[in-house]
Amino acid sequence: MTTITVGLLGAGRGLSLAQLFDRVPGYRVVAVCDAIPERLDRARSACPRAEGFHDYAAMLREPFDVMIVASAPPNHADHVCAALEAGKAVLSEVPAAHTIDDAQRIVDTVARTRGYYMLGENCNYYGFIHAWKELLEEGVLGEVIHAEGEYVHDIRGITWVDADGRYYNPADPRCPATARPSWRARYNPIQYITHSLGPLLWLTSDRCTSVSCLSTGCRTQPEIGSPDGQIALFETHSGAPIRQSCIFSAPKEPGGQWYSLYCSRGYAESKRAPWDSGKLYLADGTMKEIQRKDWPTAVDTPLASSGHGGIDGGLVWEFAHAFRRGAPSPIDVHTAMDYTLPGIYAALSAERNGERLHIPDTRTERLVTRF
Ligand SMILES: NC(=O)c1ccc[n+]([C@@H]2O[C@H](COP(=O)([O-])OP(=O)(O)OC[C@H]3O[C@@H](n4cnc5c(N)ncnc54)[C@H](O)[C@@H]3O)[C@@H](O)[C@H]2O)c1
Repeated sequence: MTTITVGLLGAGRGLSLAQLFDRVPGYRVVAVCDAIPERLDRARSACPRAEGFHDYAAMLREPFDVMIVASAPPNHADHVCAALEAGKAVLSEVPAAHTIDDAQRIVDTVARTRGYYMLGENCNYYGFIHAWKELLEEGVLGEVIHAEGEYVHDIRGITWVDADGRYYNPADPRCPATARPSWRARYNPIQYITHSLGPLLWLTSDRCTSVSCLSTGCRTQPEIGSPDGQIALFETHSGAPIRQSCIFSAPKEPGGQWYSLYCSRGYAESKRAPWDSGKLYLADGTMKEIQRKDWPTAVDTPLASSGHGGIDGGLVWEFAHAFRRGAPSPIDVHTAMDYTLPGIYAALSAERNGERLHIPDTRTERLVTRF
């Protein structure tokens, strides 16, 4: 088996993905890059066979096969396009793009370079999402008539960052005067929609066609700057509306993703907390009331003992095997934009007090910034 070599940009979240690649037979992480010395040192200890780089352009000149792009979302387009131009396959962290122009640039670069691109949407690898897919494919649940997804996570403690990449809440007395707002402090919550929307679109093979979104405003901790949360209602190609809530500055514990499916023959809901359980109701006479369901947390792979309850392992395993076989990307660039553009257009809708906006399909439409 030939060895497939991997590089990593961004040794924050990205480091856990790189360590998983090192556990896949036939894959080896050979290069890691971070501009922050402390993070680069950590990455080199975690991936001892990798050379360390401070400079992304220098790393791109090295002859490896796959680039993990785990920089901040506003830089994904620059970093993804540069990697594709350098002939690397790309596994990009979420969301795929920050702006409409960024999204079109990534789509165009994948097409021109005929590059291999996958969006790293790990939530698609929840075990219960795969269990729901089986129920839908077997016709047990019937037709989906409405779906809901939420990502609620109080991230105020990671909105300010110091020069060594250490995160703080700006209200914390330990936050140094030199700390600055990180990308998360300047982010529209609904643009971080891929975790709560991606699995629903994967389940239903659907896409969002228009959106109306409202914002809470920035009331919990005004110095953070971004809205506390945003709530969007999407029209879909199939006609089943989807509601999404992304809330990142609210004192709710535990945080995490939550999903529900309303179908013509039943209802399924994920658990909201570790002591909760998944739920299923079928209207075929077999269930008189909603039933507790202990669906698996993550899809079963040899990387099951991995981050986020095992879903990171599902993601890396699927990328690694699809890429080695030359199979189509499991979450290709158009699907990545199906997951990402709804958040970008929802944020624009919120700026316009809920005006309903069309969401283009990158397979058939060019994205235009002014509409
Ligand atoms: N899928 C998940 O569960 C999950 C979880 C957390 C974060 N993420 C995503 O992962 C990405 C990274 O998140 P994070 O929390 O690690 O962000 P971060 O800002 O803490 O880390 C990004 C790192 O990239 C480095 N970097 C950026 N540009 C660089 C360049 N040109 N040269 C060298 N180094 C550079 C920075 O120094 C920094 O250390 C984001 O896209 C985020 O949305 C995904």
